[in-house]
Amino acid sequence: MGTLIFATHNENKVKEVASVLKHRFEIKSLSQIGITQEIEEPFNSIKENAIEKARVIHLLTGQDCFAEDTGLEVSVLNGEPGVKSARYAGENRDFDANIDKLLANLEEAADRSARFVTIICLIRNGEQQIFEGECKGTIIAKKRGTGGFGYDSIFVPDGDNRTFAEMKMEEKNNYSHRKKAVEKLATYLQLQP
Ligand code: IMP
Repeated sequence: MGTLIFATHNENKVKEVASVLKHRFEIKSLSQIGITQEIEEPFNSIKENAIEKARVIHLLTGQDCFAEDTGLEVSVLNGEPGVKSARYAGENRDFDANIDKLLANLEEAADRSARFVTIICLIRNGEQQIFEGECKGTIIAKKRGTGGFGYDSIFVPDGDNRTFAEMKMEEKNNYSHRKKAVEKLATYLQLQP
């Protein structure tokens, strides 16, 4: 079984991705390989930040690795919080504060449609590949559920009436932006010699 480094400190993301790839690859998070430093997300696009994170970790380790960046894009807010999703309410990346700010900004909104977008950047044998996944849904007015992370408790994916935070991880994976991007990554890797 091959090993891939996943350039993240977010253990929720590691669990979600490892649950998709577990029979095919051993996934190692940054903490598992002894990297504790925060990886910067300096750019104004999800794709550029995913590429940057993968490049930094590839430079540090010299090993095959991938990074992902995700944003929640709300239609009536012209795609915000988008690339700013992690720091929507301020630099300290507070999930609850981000949700409160988003709900306040949507108080009067009739259109509550949104989508999660995930971009994965893989660097394998020094070559870069990009994979994308999206999940469309609705932002509800009040948090529901205790599972997951980030904006999960206010996002109901199209085709269901539960929030991501009310689902088991496997159920979230039936809809998830991240799962769709990871499946594309897995398919690509399987086709490689
Ligand atoms: P990043 O990709 O770690 O920069 O995440 C951006 C922001 O979106 C963070 O606040 C995350 O918590 C949030 N986020 C990323 N993925 C998800 C998800 O699957 N569900 C809910 N929130 C997410």
